[in-house]
Amino acid sequence: MRKPEPTVELISTGRFLPDCVVTNDDLAKRVDTSDEWIRTRTGIRERRVAPDDMTAAFMGAEAAKVAMQRAGVEPGEVDIVILSTATPDRWLPSTACDAQALLGCTNAFAFDVMAACTGFLYALTVAEGYLMAGRAEVVLVIASEKMSSITNWEDRTTCVLFGDGAGATVLRKANGAGRGILSSVMRSDGNLADLLNRPGGGAAEPMSQAILESGRHLIQMQGREIFKHAVRSMAEACDIALKRAGLTVDDVDLLVPHQANIRIIEATAKYAGLPLDKVFVNVDRYGNMSSASVPVGLDEAQEQGLIGPGSNILTVAFGAGLTWGAMALRW
Ligand code: UT7
Repeated sequence: MRKPEPTVELISTGRFLPDCVVTNDDLAKRVDTSDEWIRTRTGIRERRVAPDDMTAAFMGAEAAKVAMQRAGVEPGEVDIVILSTATPDRWLPSTACDAQALLGCTNAFAFDVMAACTGFLYALTVAEGYLMAGRAEVVLVIASEKMSSITNWEDRTTCVLFGDGAGATVLRKANGAGRGILSSVMRSDGNLADLLNRPGGGAAEPMSQAILESGRHLIQMQGREIFKHAVRSMAEACDIALKRAGLTVDDVDLLVPHQANIRIIEATAKYAGLPLDKVFVNVDRYGNMSSASVPVGLDEAQEQGLIGPGSNILTVAFGAGLTWGAMALRW
């Protein structure tokens, strides 16, 4: 099979993590849990939590500033700001518009993508479409998540899992040097929406005192069901993305998966046929940062020298929707 040429290039990456570290022992003081349970069931040791007055737009803009500075891109050169978040700062306007204002990207248009943990990968494919259609030259893709703001801190089955953070990347059309997006596969199944959701507080169940008291505006999840779907879907998406890129697992230098649970990551790698030393992990330090997990992972993997020019990278994610997807990249 003829190998596809990369479409668009991820020129640079950046990340932002709030300073405040919350350990498993800290959580064990709030709910009936233990460091041992959280570590063995999820692989998480600690997570970052943003202060109340730190917005998702701010975290995203900070990550974007790093990516833009590394790419040598000025704010006025950005044509589109696409921001993935499951935790918009407010219902109107989009968090992307707030991030645009913070960044001074005055020549851009800005909008949010809502695809939960898969949002960064979805946003990359949207950016790819604009760039390939010739509608933009520089696109900023940001994923920023303040999961602590939608976490039910009294529910031990979910509050131990999530963390706050942001990642970003600057994209341009590939210039023929072989770097960029090689293939992608994006999927969703809305029939499974109730497995992971925030039922109250939207248009279907407008916010009320009763919703606030019941906690229906916060994350609810059927963890065990999600686990099964996550492994099967991510492994399948990895296979398809590799086939579309004309690659085999042996060609992959690093898998950068969504960081929800170390057991999900290990099982996905096993099904995909990848040894664990080719799998990037930071769930121990940050927990599940929803769509920010993959860009923060890419940024750290580069900083740690795990990927460099010419590396073949497979990324894969899974989340509420249900949504899932995978992408093969040449760095
Ligand atoms: O970003 C994508 C979306 N989310 C995910 O990918 C999450 C996917 N699911 C998971 O990661 C796992 O299902 C969890 C980590 C959420 C839970 O692990 P599990 O091994 O599936 O545990 P479980 O839900 O089957 O619960 C086992 C036991 C239960 O007690 P009983 O009924 O056996 O007595 C729970 O009540 O563990 C209990 N439990 C806890 N115990 C201590 C649940 N949460 C806790 C906790 N501390 N934090």
